[in-house]
Amino acid sequence: MKKPDESQRLLFRTLWFGGAAAIIVPLNFVVFFWASEVSFLTPVFFMLAGVQLVCGAIGARAAWRYARFAKLSGVGLLLFCGLVALGGPTGAALAAFFMGSGGLGVGGALGGAWGRPLRLRGRIVHPELRAGSDWTRGDRPSTAGLDEATRRALEALWLHDAQKEHASVPAFSRLSWQLIAVGAPANLVEAVHVAALEEIDHTRRCFALAAGYGGRSHSAEPMPDLLLGGALDLPGRPLEAIAVESLKDGCLLEDFNADVAAACAAACLEPVTRDVLERIAREERAHAELSWKIVAFCVERGGAPVRRAVERAAGELAGVARPTAASAEKADLVARADAAALRRHGRLPDTEWAALWSARVEQTATRLLEGAPHQA
Ligand SMILES: [Fe+2]
Ligand SMILES: [Fe+2]
Repeated sequence: MKKPDESQRLLFRTLWFGGAAAIIVPLNFVVFFWASEVSFLTPVFFMLAGVQLVCGAIGARAAWRYARFAKLSGVGLLLFCGLVALGGPTGAALAAFFMGSGGLGVGGALGGAWGRPLRLRGRIVHPELRAGSDWTRGDRPSTAGLDEATRRALEALWLHDAQKEHASVPAFSRLSWQLIAVGAPANLVEAVHVAALEEIDHTRRCFALAAGYGGRSHSAEPMPDLLLGGALDLPGRPLEAIAVESLKDGCLLEDFNADVAAACAAACLEPVTRDVLERIAREERAHAELSWKIVAFCVERGGAPVRRAVERAAGELAGVARPTAASAEKADLVARADAAALRRHGRLPDTEWAALWSARVEQTATRLLEGAPHQA
């Protein structure tokens, strides 16, 4: 067999490595958006971006040498491989920016939340803020003895919670739509609507607390993304998707919200804030129980394939991105505040959130293995 000459060898090398780097581009887009649900995919994303850079660079070097034999195609391949290689670090930098700002709700950047997350086409979203008081209703806390930095931090934290609570309202509306689509019974659809009303109440109370601490009122910006196509889409088979989403967003996350709210209420010495935290703890716990019933309905209606999908998802619970005590963009404000005063006003440090999370993940997985979704 004839050995390939130098130019052929370089061309093959360029195409292999340049092609491999190019294939990573769409693959990593998918990984990036999945990372909002499964935290262990975040390092996978950055690792693939690194592989893209290395493969693209090897391809570009081979193309540079190939250009000695075929100038025009060599330069073209060099440009192609070079651009693909640069796409690796550029994509990683952009992703790091979005993660840091919490813009895409990707792994670890999730600030605390008191409600079911709103998912739009795989992304967790919430409204931006504007001045206004049309979503503010409820008592204001006493700010006696609080310094300016601590009041600003408390305002920012309650505003973040208000944004997340607001997003929970369409999250339950979307769930209601999906449940009707798969023929769910009236009691489940009714309970989902009750939960949506409770999330409206949580939102108003969070905005009221923020207004009390900050001395100014905020409201939610419109969310035109909710009108775009695909907002109600579910990946895969509907019963399996509803069951898996309810397991992660309801059974796990809303039960965790209840754990955190209860712990914050126990530490809180401010009566108005404590009352809101106790109410949120009680109602988020009920929302988690509702999700267990939804999982059970999906398993009962869909049979073995849904049960297997839920069992697979149980193995992924430890990889779900943990909500943190403060989002990355609020971390500086919180660091400048008086930690003891934050605790007196029902704000616990992230280390305590982490401990509650580990316990909740274990309890959710145990309950699932004990067959809770099959019993309701
Ligand atoms: Fe909730
Ligand atoms: Fe809530």
